[in-house]
Amino acid sequence: MSELTKVLKIPSNGLEIMSNIKQDLINIEAKDFVNLGKISLYVKNKIHEKNLKYIIPTKKQRDDILLMLIKYLLTDSPIVAGSHRKKQWEDGWLENLKDYSKSKNLDSLIPKYFEKYKVQRLKGDFILTQSDNFEIGLVSILQYIIFEKYFKDSKSVYEFGAGTGHNLLRLREINKGAALYAMEWAKTGVEIIKNVAKDLNDNNLYGTVFDNFNPDFDIKLQPNSSIYTFAALEQLGSNTDSLIEYWIANKAKIIVNIEPMSEPLDNNELLQYLSISYFKKRGYLEGYINKLKYLEKKGRIVIHEIVRTEIGSLFIEGYSIISWSPAEDTSFDAPIIKGADSI
Ligand SMILES: C[S@@+](CC[C@H](N)C(=O)[O-])C[C@H]1O[C@@H](n2cnc3c(N)ncnc32)[C@H](O)[C@@H]1O
Repeated sequence: MSELTKVLKIPSNGLEIMSNIKQDLINIEAKDFVNLGKISLYVKNKIHEKNLKYIIPTKKQRDDILLMLIKYLLTDSPIVAGSHRKKQWEDGWLENLKDYSKSKNLDSLIPKYFEKYKVQRLKGDFILTQSDNFEIGLVSILQYIIFEKYFKDSKSVYEFGAGTGHNLLRLREINKGAALYAMEWAKTGVEIIKNVAKDLNDNNLYGTVFDNFNPDFDIKLQPNSSIYTFAALEQLGSNTDSLIEYWIANKAKIIVNIEPMSEPLDNNELLQYLSISYFKKRGYLEGYINKLKYLEKKGRIVIHEIVRTEIGSLFIEGYSIISWSPAEDTSFDAPIIKGADSI
């Protein structure tokens, strides 16, 4: 079992049985993404093409899922995010690199942690998926919406913590002309995207080794760049100050983070509470939105929007969004303070 697989290992719990129960199939539709604003015809067609089907769990099924999550939170000792995990990411992406080198199939770039469980989250509640590749399908739709909204006309876009770079290939569908950059600390991930760029004859797709914990300020971003992260800041815990400073120093045009974040969730709602508890247990992103709110108060950045998508996987509602920009007249005399979370 790979390290990436181990990350999501859970006790066996009968989730297989659940998918056998006969119920009416429901399709993913544009209205499921209402929190994200207007959905274009392009994305509506994508939703139609993907034809993702699911069922609503019965009360018993829902209780079983909740029980399993609670047992996991109370008993299992998880793999906690942090700098010690670099080798695990290297090894995980090496598997994808080998698969890709052999097959040259772009599907082999999809991380192997997808499609492990039939339980996902939609509109903040559990659903049981009934289509193959449902999880990556749902994530793809989410990305098409976000990429169209923010990066359709960007000249250069950077993904930080890009993994195998598969998200950038979706962005390429939306924006044919932009320079796209995969920034990733695992060399195997960077190697994948370099090979893909060569194979696709895409000479505007780049990969760079970059450590989000210790940003190399000598690496200068293109002027007016757009930036996003997707399930990558989660790995930094509360150590996001340097990366924020790096983005501000490079005067990025806009930064869009799609991450597991507790601030948009409600601690007094059961599923959201369990999700927040999981973030804590895994050492995921902590205090990020509150930190940005503090910086906004200091006049260093402007926050555009904070969105709870209500979409997620078995364990977490993992795709909240914050978009923000450095303020025009950024000065460096108000550094991020420790404990900004409490502000
Ligand atoms: C859950 S994966 C997401 C990858 C990619 N964004 C995606 O959606 O497929 C988290 C990624 O963050 C990367 N990562 C973790 N810590 C990092 C760091 N300090 N600097 C750069 N990348 C890091 C991991 O190597 C991994 O590629």
